[in-house]
Amino acid sequence: MIYHFDKSASVSLVQITDCHVHNEREQLLSGVNTHDSLGQVIDGIRAAGPAPDMVLVTGDLTHEGDERAYRLLLSQLERLPAPYFWLPGNHDHLAPMASIGSEQRLRTKQIILPHWQILLVDSHVEDEVAGLVAQSELTWLATALREQPDKYAAIFVHHPLLPVGCDWLDPQRIANAEQLLTLFDNTPQLRLVCNGHVHQEWQQERQHYWLLSTPSTCIQFKSNSVDYAEDDFPPGYRRFTLHTDGSFDTEVMRVGELVRVAGAPRGYGGDYN
Ligand SMILES: [Fe+2]
Ligand SMILES: [Fe+2]
Repeated sequence: MIYHFDKSASVSLVQITDCHVHNEREQLLSGVNTHDSLGQVIDGIRAAGPAPDMVLVTGDLTHEGDERAYRLLLSQLERLPAPYFWLPGNHDHLAPMASIGSEQRLRTKQIILPHWQILLVDSHVEDEVAGLVAQSELTWLATALREQPDKYAAIFVHHPLLPVGCDWLDPQRIANAEQLLTLFDNTPQLRLVCNGHVHQEWQQERQHYWLLSTPSTCIQFKSNSVDYAEDDFPPGYRRFTLHTDGSFDTEVMRVGELVRVAGAPRGYGGDYN
């Protein structure tokens, strides 16, 4: 589905990612109540001043991928002060996403603006941790970029394309990243590719575009770690302003503190990110 967004001036976006909402409202992830930390982030977005034009929720929406968790997730997302769009991560399942999030907007993959287009790419493989962009998805993406040569492009996807410097995480990046990078290197109107999955802030410039990662709305992974390790940084989100000349501003925002329940088990139980 294509969503046409009628705004001629700069556009403000917010990306939230890796919400990992559980089936049960009180369930914890490494001692953190993921439902409540998402609530903290949404409160932070609401308190941060003028509402953004839209919010993109970039995968690992839920932790187990069950219908109950998507219902809890939606009850939180409904508090966002802007229309929101989602894409799946490795923890998500498409069937409950489709049945619970039945609103047409949530099936949007392409958002058309006067000066930009925003593309939401599916890199998830059911029941796999690592990412892959299916050939059908790649064909759709290449066509969407080719058909809008006069619009700057911003791409959002769950898994990263490049290593972020964590030995345990980097093998999980998109398996066919080279195919995507070849496409992107040959798409001069592309300006940014932004992912989740790595639960940490990261950025790298490449030719005419930037690759960026955004912190999770719950637990954060420690940068440059060989093995699984967490940081105690607060939950976060990223905001963007897309300007009409193809430039953009972006900033990671942190909200409050990371709240861990004392005595709760730490770690991820072997089911990483
Ligand atoms: Fe993930
Ligand atoms: Fe995640």
